[in-house]
Amino acid sequence: MSSISFIGTGAMTRILGTRALAGGNTVEVIGRDAAKAAALASELGAGATTGTNGSVPAGDIVILAVPYASAVPVVSQYGDALAGKVIVDISNPFNASGTGLATADGTSVAEEVAKAAPASAHVVKAFNTIFGGVLAQGRPDVFIAGDDAQAKAGMSAFIESIGLRPLDVGDLTMARWLEGAGLLMIGLARHGVGNYDFSLGINTLG
Ligand SMILES: NC(=O)c1ccc[n+]([C@@H]2O[C@H](COP(=O)([O-])OP(=O)(O)OC[C@H]3O[C@@H](n4cnc5c(N)ncnc54)[C@H](OP(=O)(O)O)[C@@H]3O)[C@@H](O)[C@H]2O)c1
Repeated sequence: MSSISFIGTGAMTRILGTRALAGGNTVEVIGRDAAKAAALASELGAGATTGTNGSVPAGDIVILAVPYASAVPVVSQYGDALAGKVIVDISNPFNASGTGLATADGTSVAEEVAKAAPASAHVVKAFNTIFGGVLAQGRPDVFIAGDDAQAKAGMSAFIESIGLRPLDVGDLTMARWLEGAGLLMIGLARHGVGNYDFSLGINTLG
């Protein structure tokens, strides 16, 4: 069982929070709007609690379920409240037209989050290559990137608890390519596949 705190009260917290609870984990919802957080926690049901914006989250794993542009500001705002936590960046830094990345070359949102986080925290990139609708219903592979083996092991245990397969893509610099893969998904949805009801996964021979 993992203890998960979500910062953000939108679609991804609702979807991942639902799966997390179904997998036997505890869920804390933290929002900048306390009423929204309380409403979502009550909608998620038994096992979901609310936390205080800016205070130490209850969860060992803290999922930043906010837009990419808010990820670094939120981590800076929390500061030492995130000491020792596994911080999970799920963001997709798309530009306005969804045809390119909004990050500078040679970095990623996840790496910028790591720079802003307390030294004792560990950042993992995960879930960004999965459309919310697929995460709600399907069994997509979950690609993860991070520098700390123990943090990735903890994330993998959480991902397995919700019935999904974690696949480690390497250290945190690989988040650049996971963010690029998020863009690839948009291109496929708009062109070759033509809808958002698919996932990117790994098939092995034999
Ligand atoms: N939806 C998907 O299919 C999907 C798939 C993969 C990855 N992602 C990524 O997941 C993240 C969340 O997406 P979403 O679809 O859940 O977005 P969403 O429904 O728009 O929710 C975003 C949440 O972030 C909160 N927020 C924004 N800035 C904040 C700040 N500075 N401090 C605290 N809270 C803040 C918003 O709070 P208020 O309600 O108070 O405005 C809202 O609750 C994004 O980075 C997105 O790229 C989404």
